[in-house]
Amino acid sequence: MSEKEKLTSLVKIIYQLTVLALVLVIAFGSFLIYYKVDPSLSALRPEQQQVAVATPNVDDNKIENGIHIRTGLVEAEGLMTVVNNCTNCHSSKLIIQNRMNAERWNATIKWMQETQNLWDLGENQEVIVNYLVTNYPPKKKGRRENLSNIEWYELED
Ligand code: HEC
Repeated sequence: MSEKEKLTSLVKIIYQLTVLALVLVIAFGSFLIYYKVDPSLSALRPEQQQVAVATPNVDDNKIENGIHIRTGLVEAEGLMTVVNNCTNCHSSKLIIQNRMNAERWNATIKWMQETQNLWDLGENQEVIVNYLVTNYPPKKKGRRENLSNIEWYELED
């Protein structure tokens, strides 16, 4: 090997080492930025993402004394269908206060679908309406019964 060749290979090795060192510095630098330096970036770390996902609250659907605590609705067949479809946009109070028969419930649902973006309930509609008329039937009106057995008297002119 001539002196010149030795020199050339030495330069090559130095060059290669420099490139390797640069790559390592960049890699380590990115690692530091990603994991340590910039908190907004480290927030993207997968293990932290998992923490950010809301864990469903087990007590959310707690039932005490036959009442679904979160909504105040009576526990009965169809309860969760009503909770899942009817308490997203407004309070369940709106449902509890409105006592209707099946026909009027279906009309109210149709009205919400046409004007309030309520989705198609499919087979759930029957379940929901059954739940409502069974557990929240129309209240008897507080009106006295018609009088009967009355002795009317004739007015004289
Ligand atoms: C997409 C949203 C949405 C969903 C879901 C929804 N509603 Fe409504 N609902 C509304 C809006 C908006 C009103 C009008 C509220 C107001 O007047 O303050 C309303 C009004 C009502 C009323 C009062 C009607 C009246 O005549 O005053 C009742 C009762 C009712 N909803 C029951 C239900 C039932 C039962 C369900 C489940 C099938 C349901 N809602 C699901 C949006 C929705």
